[in-house]
Amino acid sequence: MHSFRFPSGAKLASVSALALTFAQVAQGFIVFSTDPNIAYTPASSWDLLSEPGSSGCGSEFLLGPRDNGVVEFTFPQASTTWEWWGYQRSDGGLAQVCVDRGNCQDFSYYNASTNGSENPRLLATITGLSNELHEITLTNINDPSVNAFGQMTVDRFVLDGANAVPGPPVAPTFPADTFISTVPLGFSYHAPLILGGHQPAVEVLLDAGAPDVWVISNSCTQAACQGHNQYVPSPAFVNLSIEDTEAYGDGGPDNTFVSWRVNDTLTFGDITTPQTTFGAAVQIPTSGESLDGNFGIAKSYFAQCGNSDTYANFVETMYLQGIIKNPVIAFYQLDGTENVPSGVVSQGAIGGLDANKFTGEVDWIPMGPQEMWTNPTSNRWVQASSSSDTIDATAQFTHPAITFDTGDPGLLGLPHNDWVTLMALIGAQGPDSNSNYLIPCESTMTWNFFGTQMRNYTFNLADTTSDNGSGFCNPSANDAGDTTNWITGVPFLDQYYIAFHYSANLMGFATRNLGASAAGSSPYLG
Ligand SMILES: *[C@@H]1O[C@H](CO)[C@@H](O)[C@H](O)[C@H]1NC(C)=O
Ligand SMILES: *[C@@H]1O[C@H](CO)[C@@H](O)[C@H](O)[C@H]1NC(C)=O
Ligand SMILES: *[C@@H]1O[C@H](CO)[C@@H](O)[C@H](O)[C@H]1NC(C)=O
Ligand SMILES: *[C@@H]1O[C@H](CO)[C@@H](O)[C@H](O)[C@H]1NC(C)=O
Ligand SMILES: *[C@@H]1O[C@H](CO)[C@@H](O)[C@H](O)[C@H]1NC(C)=O
Ligand SMILES: *[C@@H]1O[C@H](CO)[C@@H](O)[C@H](O)[C@H]1NC(C)=O
Repeated sequence: MHSFRFPSGAKLASVSALALTFAQVAQGFIVFSTDPNIAYTPASSWDLLSEPGSSGCGSEFLLGPRDNGVVEFTFPQASTTWEWWGYQRSDGGLAQVCVDRGNCQDFSYYNASTNGSENPRLLATITGLSNELHEITLTNINDPSVNAFGQMTVDRFVLDGANAVPGPPVAPTFPADTFISTVPLGFSYHAPLILGGHQPAVEVLLDAGAPDVWVISNSCTQAACQGHNQYVPSPAFVNLSIEDTEAYGDGGPDNTFVSWRVNDTLTFGDITTPQTTFGAAVQIPTSGESLDGNFGIAKSYFAQCGNSDTYANFVETMYLQGIIKNPVIAFYQLDGTENVPSGVVSQGAIGGLDANKFTGEVDWIPMGPQEMWTNPTSNRWVQASSSSDTIDATAQFTHPAITFDTGDPGLLGLPHNDWVTLMALIGAQGPDSNSNYLIPCESTMTWNFFGTQMRNYTFNLADTTSDNGSGFCNPSANDAGDTTNWITGVPFLDQYYIAFHYSANLMGFATRNLGASAAGSSPYLG
């Protein structure tokens, strides 16, 4: 079953269903549970689960016999510290942890008060190691306090935790034979794609928050499919005869997508791939779909979470077929307030960056292993007004990951507990009987993602046009409720030239060029 994405209210629900999530974490070098440097034995006893607060691809659980579970971890980089994050268990649990096959000590993961689905907690810390590569062995042993073996879990290990910051990633390079192909973007990451060579183009959302693809097909006879540009199969099309369905809301026929996977040609600007996979929709929700389709550009082929039942998206496919030189899609999105010179328009580019669309250096920021474009950990500061102190709130938030989503119209959605923390930090008034807060109009948030430029990203948290007369405004961010990632969408992303690099697993952020030279295009090299 596949989750499709709506550019409407239904989106948030599917975001939380899709996005694997992160929990409380100290800063440091995170080694996710699926990292090849971790071995779980016997393999048949361990399963990867997505539980509340799971990071990266999910958490490993000892679901099989509990009396013989062993985890062996070889450091991928030198570190003086090691942290184990996992789930506490209410029915007991003890692990013997040995360093370099000696120096063993026991760590309990038993907590009679946990309900078992609380976010991963810090279960063990070892400090004072020599700054080298070490090998850690965790053996699940009998917990004498309950005279039983517990269910051991690994969400992640953290090296040089606590106060260390992750090392910066390496900026990708763009070889001299790099070329790009561009399309004009409509409103908010909407791009014209030509499928099967058929004109007019379909207008689709290039949705960083979705791994799946659907487009209204000419075999959809529903009223809701009419009045749209549709996909018309070319003579070369292949029907893969795989059906994808997704239900929304009450799940009735009016709220269900049905599409069939097909292969056909796709043209982006002046580049055509002879064969890429997408879903030809034969049934769409009747609630009024304004788009002709939703093309997910989340990682599929390049996601690192093992077997995925999604298929490579068109950017990945074009790269794998050698049609583009770099697996990159980049966006120059204007929101209409910029007063750019004539000839300067919003643009999407594949194959590389458009050197005319940005100034200065690109800050390449690290992404986690999962499909979504999610930064695993950042520094976060808040400031209530220009005269108040800047607070480093990083450790006060319990959800360190931020997902970037071109399909989300919101500035910033926070999991409920982090939202409450944020409101307290900036001295918000509320909540009122409708759960609404008023916040100081000058409130800002600053992020630093430990990117190649270590750049700070500062933005207003308030809708400054809504001052109630005493310096209090409506927030532009919102309480996203029962989600486990922070999610930032169009209002944040629009402010930058942004690029998604699939093989490097990095997102690039640069200052947009709003001058006349942005009317031209040339590939960025170097
Ligand atoms: C045990 O779990 C309870 C309930 O979540 C929590 O309040 C408490 O802090 C936990 N104790 C430890 C030592 O982690
Ligand atoms: C477990 O406790 C957490 C709060 O610590 C709560 O959010 C969650 O809903 C609880 N889960 C169950 C299954 O009771
Ligand atoms: C693909 O095949 C299925 C049946 O296997 C059919 O229902 C569907 O309409 C076909 N799609 C296209 C685009 O021909
Ligand atoms: C469909 O297209 C994908 C991407 O090019 C390719 O990997 C796959 O083999 C194709 N399948 C068929 C049956 O043509
Ligand atoms: C980012 O902002 C914080 C808070 O104002 C500041 O302490 C830090 O030095 C800034 N970092 C950079 C690289 O500008
Ligand atoms: C604006 O909102 C703040 C916070 O709720 C409140 O203290 C203040 O009285 C309000 N000002 C006006 C003019 O309503």
